[in-house]
Amino acid sequence: MESLQRISRASELEPFRVRFLGRRGGSLTGIMRRLSEVSKEDRPQLGQLANAVKKEITTLFEEKKKELARKPGIKADKGLDLSLPGRRIPFGKLHPVTQVMEEMCAIFEGMGFAVAEGPDVETDHYNFEALNIPKHHPARDMHDTFYVSDSILLRTHTSPMQARIMETKEPPLRYIAPGKVYRCDSDITHTPMFVQVEGFLVDRDVSFSDLKGVLTSFLQQMFSKDLAVRFRPSFFPFTEPSAEVDIACVICGGKGCRVCKRTGWIEILGAGLIDPEVMKMVGFDPDEFSGFAFGLGVERIAMLKYGINDIRLYYENDLRFLAQF
Ligand code: PHE
Repeated sequence: MESLQRISRASELEPFRVRFLGRRGGSLTGIMRRLSEVSKEDRPQLGQLANAVKKEITTLFEEKKKELARKPGIKADKGLDLSLPGRRIPFGKLHPVTQVMEEMCAIFEGMGFAVAEGPDVETDHYNFEALNIPKHHPARDMHDTFYVSDSILLRTHTSPMQARIMETKEPPLRYIAPGKVYRCDSDITHTPMFVQVEGFLVDRDVSFSDLKGVLTSFLQQMFSKDLAVRFRPSFFPFTEPSAEVDIACVICGGKGCRVCKRTGWIEILGAGLIDPEVMKMVGFDPDEFSGFAFGLGVERIAMLKYGINDIRLYYENDLRFLAQF
């Protein structure tokens, strides 16, 4: 009976049946056949015993058969069904911020801008000094920085790329520089790491209206509608004059909500004409050349495009959120 207990697959049932109960060569059948060799007195008793054993084994065997038929997976014993479709491997997608960043770059490339990338770990020189932000300048307050050492930090904006490129190339220049930036900041409209696209153009006779034209054209292509845009006077040490550009909050339609802090407007970029001081530092004559620069927040643009009301969702890595894009 042990050998019956050990059986765990339907394929082992038949050999068992043949071995013990088989008509030819089954060990019980053999015992029954040899009953004739026993004395007449013992024969009925032995015959009964043999019959009882046979019945018992048959019952247990049938039970085992039923048990195995009930077990899931045992049917696979009939063979693996190779025609069944395989399990699908889910495809990954680009992160929504990456998608929007690529879309933004494509629009600027369409306007003749070349793409350049620079380091996330930046020197104090390129992040601040070369952009006319000396040590202890109050404008450093706007950029609460993560320092690696006194002179090395995580860049707080992509503007260092203006200085890096202008230092090595001659005008006319027309570049965008997308990339990650870092600030010690965290609430529903700020994350400690976010993505900017910097853009700048240097040539002869570049004016503020060129800047307005490029940015307005960009925003129209990005949102594919006549979105309300406003330029607000502002200040950046590396541009003069400077402006912040707001677009009407598309989450609330300008009525005022949590995202636009009840103002109806969302600030998406800083811009201005490149300050003559910055031009001088990279060796360009500000009387001969002029230029404009702008810096766009990619997450904000993606929020407005997709109606997302909390910037932190981008970086929580919840697949239910990410899979929607
Ligand atoms: N670097 C600025 C910021 O991050 C934005 C900016 C870029 C402003 C270019 C003017 C010109 O706040």
